[in-house]
Amino acid sequence: MLVLDARDLESGYGETQVLFGVSVKVKKGQLTAILGSNGAGKSTTLWTLIGVLKAWRGSITFQGRDVTRLPPHERVRMGMVLVPEGRRLWPDLTVREHLELAATTPRAKRRREENLELVYTLFPRLKERREQKAGSLSGGEQQMLAIARGLMLDPEILMLDEPSLGLAPKLVQDIMGVIRKLKEEGKTILLVEQNIHISLSIADYAYILENGRITIEGPADVVREDPMVKKAYLGL
Ligand SMILES: Nc1ncnc2c1ncn2[C@@H]1O[C@H](COP(=O)(O)OP(=O)(O)OP(=O)(O)O)[C@@H](O)[C@H]1O
Ligand SMILES: [Mg+2]
Repeated sequence: MLVLDARDLESGYGETQVLFGVSVKVKKGQLTAILGSNGAGKSTTLWTLIGVLKAWRGSITFQGRDVTRLPPHERVRMGMVLVPEGRRLWPDLTVREHLELAATTPRAKRRREENLELVYTLFPRLKERREQKAGSLSGGEQQMLAIARGLMLDPEILMLDEPSLGLAPKLVQDIMGVIRKLKEEGKTILLVEQNIHISLSIADYAYILENGRITIEGPADVVREDPMVKKAYLGL
């Protein structure tokens, strides 16, 4: 079943067009990745999907409903959740406060206890540090908190914008491990990354985005063997 079906999206900033017909499908329970280098249009795609940027052309169907013209907060209420690039935490609030405050929509409030339980199971480090201020967490812990906050919104689709950005290789492994575990918990995930190699190792399906266009797509293990991908992104 398709959770998200975006077709021929065009969008950009002011007069500047960035996306030139991007189509992305996300199946329920799968980990789908949009991969590409700096400036390819990955974040622009996510901001368009969530509705902060208007789609100039094309359509976005979420769980069978056309959401192309809906404001962002309604998409969030329906279960579209974006964890944006950068962690955007409040340094003086504790881990627990972040998580409690995150459950803002009716569905998230209803399931707050369950989701908190899930978050603390997935991120034991956050549980141990629940009374610690976010500003004093390590980079990896902060990224985990950013993801955990997204989970508190009870997503039908969790969209992650470069969760590995700025993390040391060991922490990148940890974050990717957590994302894989989220999938095993049954979550539907759309992962945006420049870290192409490791993302292909955990994704089910992948899209390569270049200059605002999808150039290659397929099951992740097929994309990994694509000669162009090997040459341009995997250094092989
Ligand atoms: N607010 C903005 N105003 C104008 N142009 C922008 C704005 N944000 C991004 N762009 C441009 O849109 C293009 C795509 O940017 P985008 O942020 O979507 O890329 P990205 O794939 O997410 O890159 P990165 O991996 O560096 O985050 C770039 O050319 C960028 O300069
Ligand atoms: Mg980006």
